[in-house]
Formats: sequence, C-alpha cells, structure tokens
Amino acid sequence: MSALWSAAELRAVFGVDAAWDVSGISIDTRTLAPGDLFVALHGARDGHEFVAAALEKGAAAALVSKPMPGRVIVVEDTLRGLERLGAAARARAGAKVVAVTGSVGKTTTKEMLRRTLCAFGPVHAAEASFNNHIGVPLTLARMPSDAAFGVFEIGMNHPGEIAPLAALVRPDVAIITCVDRAHLGLMGSEEAIAQEKAAVFCGLVPGGTAVLPGDTRFLPLLRAAVPPGCRALVFGEGAVEARLLELKHGADACEVAGEIEGVPVWFGLAAPGRHMAMNGLAVLAAADGLGLELTRAAAALDGFTPFTGRGARRRIAVAGGAAVLLDESYNASGASMRAALAVLALQPGRHVAVLGDMLELGDFAQDEHLGLLPAVLAAAERVFTCGEHSRALFDSLPRSKQGAHAADAATLAPLVKAALHAGDTVLVKGSYGSRMRDVISVLESPA
Ligand SMILES: Nc1ncnc2c1ncn2[C@@H]1O[C@H](COP(=O)(O)OP(=O)(O)OP(=O)(O)O)[C@@H](O)[C@H]1O
Ligand SMILES: [Mg+2]
Repeated sequence: MSALWSAAELRAVFGVDAAWDVSGISIDTRTLAPGDLFVALHGARDGHEFVAAALEKGAAAALVSKPMPGRVIVVEDTLRGLERLGAAARARAGAKVVAVTGSVGKTTTKEMLRRTLCAFGPVHAAEASFNNHIGVPLTLARMPSDAAFGVFEIGMNHPGEIAPLAALVRPDVAIITCVDRAHLGLMGSEEAIAQEKAAVFCGLVPGGTAVLPGDTRFLPLLRAAVPPGCRALVFGEGAVEARLLELKHGADACEVAGEIEGVPVWFGLAAPGRHMAMNGLAVLAAADGLGLELTRAAAALDGFTPFTGRGARRRIAVAGGAAVLLDESYNASGASMRAALAVLALQPGRHVAVLGDMLELGDFAQDEHLGLLPAVLAAAERVFTCGEHSRALFDSLPRSKQGAHAADAATLAPLVKAALHAGDTVLVKGSYGSRMRDVISVLESPA
C-alpha cells in the first residue's frame, strides 16, 4: 500500500519525530484500516480512549494531544492537527479543487462532479456527506498527492462556519447549488443564509471561478462576494452563462439541453426534476471553470443516477402487486420537499406522499410546514405524515387526501404499508432526524 503521508512529510507537518509512513486517515476504530493514522478527536466520546485499540488494529500511528504509550504523535489539539494535515494536503496537491455548498443538493452535485471529472483523471471526493468542521479537513487530509481533482462538500448550520473551511480548501472553483431556508431556525433569516453561503467565495484561489444559482433573489449579494479577478458563471434560465435551453421529463429520467458560455451541451439523468437538471448545469459550469472540454464532460455526466435516500427509485411489493418507491428519506428542507413532490407529480399511478418533519426551523417550523400545502395538494392523492410540525399540514388537507398522521415514522410505517395499492408511486421524505428510513425498511420488508 503506497504511503498517503511519508514519515518525512509528517515530521514536516507536525514538527515532531515521526518514523512511520501512513496509508490513510481514520477517526473511527470501527472503520480503521491497517496503516492508517488514527486521529483521536474529542466527539461524543474522547478518541484517546480508542488509541490502544487503534494501534492494536494495525494503525501506523495515532495523533493524540497527551503523552501516551506506543506509536503516537503528540500535538496540542488533535482537530487543529487534522486541519494542519489538511492544509498540507492542499499545499502539496497538484489537483484542481472544487468546493460545493448550498442549502440543498451539495452531496448530489458532489457525486455528479465525481462522475464527470473521472473522465479527465483520478478524483478524490468527500465520502457521503462529510461537510462540517471535521469532515472537510478529514477529506483534505485523505487527498492523495497525485489526485487530478479534489471535490469537497462544505456545509453549515450556524453563521461563520463556511469561511474557515473555504480558506482550508482553497478551491479553484466554488459552487453554490441554491439558497433556501434550510437551518432557518439557527440562521435567523434567508439573507443570513445567503451571506453565509457567499462566504465560500472568500476561499477561491486568485483567478478562480464562482458558480452561482441564477434563480435566487440573493444573486446580487452572492455576486458581490466574488473576489476581484475571479470569474462568475451563473447557471439557470434566461441571460446567464450556463443556460438551460430545454428540459424534457419522464417519470424516471430527464433530458437536458443547455449552453455553457455559448457551447451547446446535452445530457440525460436517470432522475427527473428541474433541480437535478440545475445541479447538472452547475457541474458543467464548474467543468468550464476548470478549462475542461465540455462535450466530453457532458458525456461523462450523462446517465447519473441518484443515491439511496436522495431520490433513488425502487420497486416494492405491496398487496396485489408492486409499487414504485421514491426514496428521499435522507433529508428534507422546503426546497427539496418541493423538488421531490414535483417529481412525484410526474409519476404513473396513484401518488402517495409520506412526509416527516423538517428540522432545524425553530420558530419558522409551523409556517414552513404549512407552506408545503400547495405542492402537496398538486402532487399527491393520499398523504401520510408524522412528527409534531407535520400535524398542522395534515390537518389542513381535505379529508379525501388524508391518509394518516402519527407521532413518529415507526408508528406511521405499518399504516402506510397497509394502505398501498399495486401501481402506486410512494414518496418518502423527511429530515434525517425524523427517521423516515424506518418507513423505508417496513415498505421494503416482504408484503
Ligand atoms: N438543487 C436542488 N434543489 C432542490 N432540491 C434538491 C437539489 N438537489 C438535490 N435536491 C434534493 O435534496 C435532497 C438531498 O440532496 P443532497 O443530499 O444532495 O443535499 P445536501 O445539500 O448534501 O444535504 P445535507 O445538508 O444534509 O448534506 C435530494 O434527495 C433531492 O431530492
Ligand atoms: Mg450532503
């Protein structure tokens, strides 16, 4: 296994006598691989409790913040240490780096980028949704020095979180997927959310490229945050650099025709929805920002299929036959709820919506849930809800559309299962904390 970090590099980064090459970075002994550097972080548990186990499991060494026996590198603060390793990875990288932030669609767009950039060279991209103050430096520290591209997801739920992460990532291209009301309860206003998202542009390298969503009233605010000397490519409809020309939907796919700075592009996605088409345009605008050949990039993006919990389609057995499941159980905010409901409206058969609470909305929760009513009425014939905030939405539905409401997903799941007919399409969506995956597992269990 080739070294991710040589002993000499670790000595240079930490200024201490390290005698081991490491082949990976781990913060969790459950997934640690032999040869990894185990970083003992202070989380729900103190990572120092796991150092002995990590070394036992074959870790090359452990990064700790107090003297301990064994192959350890002692630093003042292990999270600062991880950030320093991340900064060193960025400094030594020959890779072109893309950062993705936005109220929703970060992971989807990051995976679209991974697929697209793979056609041009080896890509290092964040795992899953590693987008916070630990996930970003960890993803950086794991970036091989010979990667051609690095793709980083940057998230936030409080003011001030994005700028330091963007400064660490130093992107050549930075994408904002959209500005919406996710985490509104913690951020206070949509303008504060836009301000925070715009901070990603502060990390751009000189002459870098900003990719901005055209369909937000905060576009002027976002544009103003693009540093002098950097390009701004706006994606969307109308007079923008990355323009949607035509969008054709089927129940399980869409075809997109667009134009990036005058160059025609075409791609198909194994997922319907204007939101997916916009993510795809943002990806091609980023490819343009990296100076890549657009027709080849579009061909690589073509055929992208959404992931479990983020729009994946599966057939499930129900009484009397089969139904289609739209698995959107990973997360939810106003924008993604509306996007998923618009996809449900495109489906064959009876439309059943199973909606759990959207979280982190604070005092705005009631209004945000009631605000979904028009989209729900337009998309679904039958509606099931769970959670305290969704109750108000359920009660405002006409009786003919009311399926059932329950306090939580596990209680609601058997009620949904019993109500499904062959030929139905059922959408399951809610915030991660609403545990809509409990509905998914009941629906996917034998009829
Ligand atoms: N551009 C978009 N606009 C609205 N909804 C979108 C967009 N892109 C994806 N979605 C919807 O949002 C869901 C979640 O997407 P994704 O996981 O990519 O978001 P995220 O920003 O990474 O979320 P998190 O903040 O939890 O990491 C998808 O399942 C999809 O339905
Ligand atoms: Mg994510």
